[in-house]
Order: sequence, then structure tokens, then C-alpha cells
Amino acid sequence: MATQRTFSIIKPDATRRNLTGAINAKIEEAGLRIVGQKRIHMTKAQAEAFYAVHAERPFYNDLVSFMISGPVVVQVLEGENAVAAYRQVMGATNPADADEGTIRKAFAESIEANSVHGSDSDENAAIEINHFFTEDEIVG
Ligand code: CMP
Repeated sequence: MATQRTFSIIKPDATRRNLTGAINAKIEEAGLRIVGQKRIHMTKAQAEAFYAVHAERPFYNDLVSFMISGPVVVQVLEGENAVAAYRQVMGATNPADADEGTIRKAFAESIEANSVHGSDSDENAAIEINHFFTEDEIVG
């Protein structure tokens, strides 16, 4: 197994309900280390660029509006097979399908307000980290 990095966002529904610490506890319990973290309020341009891959999807405009509706916490997570490990602890995109013990089962409100984002591949993790972090902001 290899040490990997993945990118995470704690979304506005979770920051609004003061769940950053509770979500970070689940991340750390899963063996992942938070090696970069900052609380930001995304601009519309940042949210549009980040979710550009979904630009043709019917939910794109609502998703962008939601992601700029409040602060988010962007994170770099490091650990063994971090991309897959974080996807496991996040749970399914739709909280109705998420397993017990996952972040989305515990906290998500809906498929849109689903509390967290995590990269879906090693390649996208590198791209997404670069959207929000410089290398000197990541301290392992
Ligand atoms: P995320 O992992 O951030 O990636 C894209 C997001 O789009 C996803 O989580 C969901 O929060 C959001 N989304 C909203 N509606 C849908 C939908 N119908 N199908 C998939 N994702 C959706």
C-alpha cells in the first residue's frame, strides 16, 4: 500500500451546523492525517471552476450556489490509500444510500447538502489540491 494524498471539502451545510470538529474526528479515526486545512468562503468563479466537470449536469447551478452559501473547510488528507480510504469514511454521495458509521450517514442532509466532498481518483486529487493549496501550505 502507498501513502497518498486526497482533497476534502467540509461543505456549507456542515460548517453552518458547527460540525468541522466532528467530521475531522471521523477523518482521523479512519487513520487519515489532516496535513493541510483552511476555512474559506469560495467565490462563484472558484466553485464553477472546481465543479466544471459537472457543468452540463442539471444540478450544476444549484450546486455552485450551495457551495458559495457559506464557509467551507478545504483540506489535504494523507494516509495509506487516502483516496479510497476517505471515500469509504465519507459514504455514498446520497446519504440515503450511505453505510452506518460514515460521515454522510451521520451528518448529511441531502444529496446536495451532503457535508463533504472527496476526490474520486489519485489524478483528480492532485488537480483539486492545486486549486486551493500551494505546496508550502501542506505540512506532513
Ligand atoms: P461531490 O462529491 O461534491 O461532487 C459533486 C456534487 O454534486 C456531489 O458531491 C453532490 O453533493 C452534488 N449533487 C447534487 N445533486 C446531485 C445528483 N443528482 N447526483 C450527483 N451529485 C449531486
